[in-house]
Amino acid sequence: MTIEFISIPEADKRAVPTEFTFGKTFTNYMFSQSYVEGEGWHDAKIHQYAPFQMWPASVVLHYAQEFFEGAKAYRRPDGNINLFRFMDNCRRFNSSAERMAMPTVDPETHFDTLVKLLEVQPEWVPDAPSTLYIRPTMIANSQMLGLGSAREYLHYIILSPVGSYFAAGGTTKGLAVYVETEHVRAFPGGTGAVKAGGNYAASVYVSEQVKKQGYAQVLWLDGLERRYIEEVGAMNIAFVYNGKTIVTPELSGTILPGITRDSLLTLAPDLGYKMTEARLDVDEIMRDIASGEITEAFGIGTAAVIAAVGRFNYKGNDYTLGDQTSGPVSNHLRETLTGIQFGTIADPYGWTTTINVTGA
Ligand code: PLP
Ligand code: COI
Repeated sequence: MTIEFISIPEADKRAVPTEFTFGKTFTNYMFSQSYVEGEGWHDAKIHQYAPFQMWPASVVLHYAQEFFEGAKAYRRPDGNINLFRFMDNCRRFNSSAERMAMPTVDPETHFDTLVKLLEVQPEWVPDAPSTLYIRPTMIANSQMLGLGSAREYLHYIILSPVGSYFAAGGTTKGLAVYVETEHVRAFPGGTGAVKAGGNYAASVYVSEQVKKQGYAQVLWLDGLERRYIEEVGAMNIAFVYNGKTIVTPELSGTILPGITRDSLLTLAPDLGYKMTEARLDVDEIMRDIASGEITEAFGIGTAAVIAAVGRFNYKGNDYTLGDQTSGPVSNHLRETLTGIQFGTIADPYGWTTTINVTGA
């Protein structure tokens, strides 16, 4: 695939900011390409981050035929840039495409495209602990009010320098989490296992309601019985028993198969913890928090990394974890994982790809 490069005049380039909140600042350059049924992908280009025009009847605006990915680029101490398991994001991008009846993109080409987009603006990858968040997206943009798969799609990648996902909490102070027993995020046969925007849209009503009561996140239960723990906000979740054994909900088809979660399933045993996947009954988990057997709980994801939970509210009762700060297991896992991601700890797993931007 040839990618056209449309250079931005120096005078129009924005300076790299020194302060940013999550996902509100974007790099000078983005990537986009278009798809037309029968013709395939074309018009691949790297160009200025700018608004684009869409028809008011575009399918995505009415029927939410879209999905996205989330990854990060990390600044290494030697000045080069690390990607973390980005090929897995490219594969999951295609799983989402298939579930949403949208065209796939060759994973190797997708990977190489991201590298090119970083190489034209490496100065946008901030120094640790900040990162450059990567958001590949696909939308259905043909005009059609009849329900069905669109004929035209747009695939784009935007990049955003980011600090901590949570304005407060997660890495030091534990998050306050509301256990939602009425609404659900996903259900069997639905789209919970892919990154369809509609999953997130459906979750906002509950998260906004509970935010007013002081909760930072929602714990989602299964859609059939409201009994089994699934995810916390837009993160996977894990619980630590007695500072040693970690349990995370097994992938049930309604849970997003997180790349960070999958990494912990390999990393945690190598750090001396037992980590298993199981069906987790919310009543049993709350009972084990109350008895003190569960010593820590944390959310797991690219944006939030490892975010400690300080307290759950379940059916009107509070279940607190330790002193409600990030505990030793959460800290150990976070420090090791981010060490591998930033290149300060050796990566024995082949998870990182280094892009040489220093020429050294
Ligand atoms: N669950 C949901 C719903 C998510 O949106 C994410 C974020 O991508 C995750 C879990 C964590 O997945 P990953 O570790 O691949 O970022
Ligand atoms: C991520 O962790 O990458 C996500 O996509 C979650 C999003 C809500 C920021």
